Amino acid sequence: MADTAVLGVQWGDEGKGKIVDFLAKDADWVVRFQGGTNAGHTVLVKGKKHILHLIPSGIIHGGKKCIIGNGVVVDPPELLKEMDTLRKEGIEVEGRLFVSERAHVIMPYHKKLDALSEKLKGSKQIGTTLRGIGPAYSDKMARGGIRMQDLLRPQRLREKLEEALKVKNLLIGEFFGEEGYDLEGLYQEVLSWSKGLKVYICNTHSLIRRLVDSGASILFEGAQGAMLDIDHGTYPYVTSSSTTVGGVFTGAGVPPSTVDRIIGISKAYTTRVGGGPFPTELDGEEGQMLRERGGEYGATTGRPRRCGWLDLVALRYAAWIDGLTEVAITKLDVLDAMDRIKVCVAYDIEGERTQEMPGDLELFSKAKPVYETFPGWRGKVRGVTGWQDLPSQAKEYLEYLEEFLGVPIGMVSTGPDREETIVR
Ligand code: IMP
Repeated sequence: MADTAVLGVQWGDEGKGKIVDFLAKDADWVVRFQGGTNAGHTVLVKGKKHILHLIPSGIIHGGKKCIIGNGVVVDPPELLKEMDTLRKEGIEVEGRLFVSERAHVIMPYHKKLDALSEKLKGSKQIGTTLRGIGPAYSDKMARGGIRMQDLLRPQRLREKLEEALKVKNLLIGEFFGEEGYDLEGLYQEVLSWSKGLKVYICNTHSLIRRLVDSGASILFEGAQGAMLDIDHGTYPYVTSSSTTVGGVFTGAGVPPSTVDRIIGISKAYTTRVGGGPFPTELDGEEGQMLRERGGEYGATTGRPRRCGWLDLVALRYAAWIDGLTEVAITKLDVLDAMDRIKVCVAYDIEGERTQEMPGDLELFSKAKPVYETFPGWRGKVRGVTGWQDLPSQAKEYLEYLEEFLGVPIGMVSTGPDREETIVR
């Protein structure tokens, strides 16, 4: 298999876990390159549900090996918990998982600061997952972060924690009026994580380079989606990492020439969790139908997702930035219940029609969707495994998407199970 990147092209939750799991059978290695425990990848295999937050979904496949790249922010206790759950399910992790020594660590104070700063924002909350993602990436960029390699160097760890706590305790204690952290207590806590993790932490740059040189096939597994990208998304209602294709190269430490297949994952409709504008959002019965039929509740936080029609303006923007070579459409079966299906093909912003994604959030929040309407197919898609077996209305819908995006649809998911997939 060509080296492939699988990227979300909406606001996350596109069903990447299932597609990665499906493609993993043809790959030797699966690599995560950004994000952290804010992600929740659900994989259903023969009726058994696995939810992964940090470890690439490829781990579910016996024999595959996985890397957590330098661009990921790692919450060690959560990683240890995830490993434990997998072991209890009979899935061995040791010797199959490699964690970059350059990856940054999410510390307890990052999670606390995430919650405190959300509270401070009041009605302007981002609606984060409260997993400490923003504060951890902020420290990385400000060059004050703790890295996985520091867990293996007690003296250095202590010094770095001491430095970090000077500022964090001032902020948490003096500004927010909450209890700060005791250096010795925190140091011992962090050291206790390293016992379970030291065999996994390594120089993944050298490892990946060897893999690429040897011709191993690698799957790069994205988290979140293009519209949550720190640069290209709906800032500030975004996550703090590069969720688009550039993140693969910086977050795994590979040159662009490594990736020759770039698959964008999009649901057949749109969802979003947290705050921020969402032009095609449906407040009424149709939105509720999508939520219930699609099981649109967060895998990480359990929050109900906001639901709406497919936004092709946003999708085409993402497809261009990511340089998609193909699209995979997920959850097409969820539309089985709909009498009619709409897709947004332009925005009306202050009386002007545009197909461009505005960079100014104030303008984007004024965007009114211009729709194209398609007839529904009422109940004939769930479980279909061949393109030719799709109802003609569904084919017409998908062919319209392809033409609009200028990118072929390579896969269609017609149900949650691994088998319920069309490969074209
Ligand atoms: P953070 O990544 O926890 O800082 O959250 C920032 C924004 O990204 C919030 O709107 C979250 O709901 C959203 N977000 C983060 N991770 C995911 C995800 O895996 N799926 C969907 N939305 C996400």
